[in-house]
Amino acid sequence: MLLWVWLPIAVITLLHYGTGSEHVWAHNVLRRVYYLPIVVAAYQLGLRGGLVAAALVSVSYLPHAFAHIEHLAHTDPAPALEKALELVLYHLVGAVAGHLADRERRRRLELGRALGERLRLQQQLVRAGRLSALGEVVAGIAHEIRNPLHALRGTAEIVDPLVPRDRLERRMWEIHLSELERLDRTADRFLSFARPTPPRMTELDLREVAERLVALVGADARKKGVDIELELPPAAVGVRGDRDQLAQVALNIAVNALRAIGERGGHIRVSVRHDALFRGAPMHALRIENDGPRIAPELLDHLFDPFHGTHADGAGLGLSISERIVEQHGGFIEAANEGLGVSFTVLLPRAT
Ligand SMILES: Nc1ncnc2c1ncn2[C@@H]1O[C@H](COP(=O)(O)OP(=O)(O)OP(=O)(O)O)[C@@H](O)[C@H]1O
Ligand SMILES: [Mg+2]
Repeated sequence: MLLWVWLPIAVITLLHYGTGSEHVWAHNVLRRVYYLPIVVAAYQLGLRGGLVAAALVSVSYLPHAFAHIEHLAHTDPAPALEKALELVLYHLVGAVAGHLADRERRRRLELGRALGERLRLQQQLVRAGRLSALGEVVAGIAHEIRNPLHALRGTAEIVDPLVPRDRLERRMWEIHLSELERLDRTADRFLSFARPTPPRMTELDLREVAERLVALVGADARKKGVDIELELPPAAVGVRGDRDQLAQVALNIAVNALRAIGERGGHIRVSVRHDALFRGAPMHALRIENDGPRIAPELLDHLFDPFHGTHADGAGLGLSISERIVEQHGGFIEAANEGLGVSFTVLLPRAT
């Protein structure tokens, strides 16, 4: 701005004052050159910039404009009128150019936003297509695993009392049982990914979801030396949603957080916020932060894709299930390396 607006105004003014009054043509030219910095200021800074530049030009030009014409005024008022008109025109040009530049900038911004939204929807559609094809396969596999699994669990219940508690085989038998449990949980997760149930919407207070989460993971966190901080607003935070599904979303995120912190202990913060503005819409937010290691940027882009987990004992489905649940609620879920370290924010539309 200094280079393109203020400096040219200063130079033109200096030339004006430095040029003798006999060079009328030079003054006429210089007077019009003032329009250039005014238009540049309007283009760069909008209406305010245009008007400020016009005002600055007027202030600089005013003493010079009327210094030499007082004696002419009583004979011929035309030059005085012309110069006064020029001052008005400076402001008019500054205002019109600034207004147009502002309008253009607003349009460009809207266009950019619309393009971003379109891109997001496109990606969502591509992902939805991939997910539904994948869902079919996963549902088939999970179903096939579950049938023999039921038979295995049934027979295990019969065999269990036959394995004496004080024998070495008992330890192996317990591993056998716990692995069966794990397989059952994994099959459950695969099925809830493949066959999502539609949410049963009721009006609820988002603070309850946060409180329930802390109650659910509290014991596990204490065991791992992780302290959980709960930050809630004093008034109810009303959203429409499925209580159990939202609890599952919160739990998925919190279990990930606990696992990311590991055994060295750490800190988790669960907070609820009123009216977080998101993409122009007012939403309520549930945020879960943890102070574990940050998420690598290349993983951050695929965090919500299925089977992108980095843990051997996880299916890599928790976040993709969570994202779908939140989207079915008309909300968004976001992950970022911020807050305590890593932060997940679930945004849900306000209950009206
Ligand atoms: N708080 C976090 N800090 C660091 N990495 C995280 C965090 N939460 C998730 N991740 C990363 O995102 C990956 C995907 O998480 P997601 O919950 O979808 O799958 P998972 O936890 O591996 O398996 P599942 O949830 O199905 O048991 C995780 O494997 C982990 O690498
Ligand atoms: Mg998980």
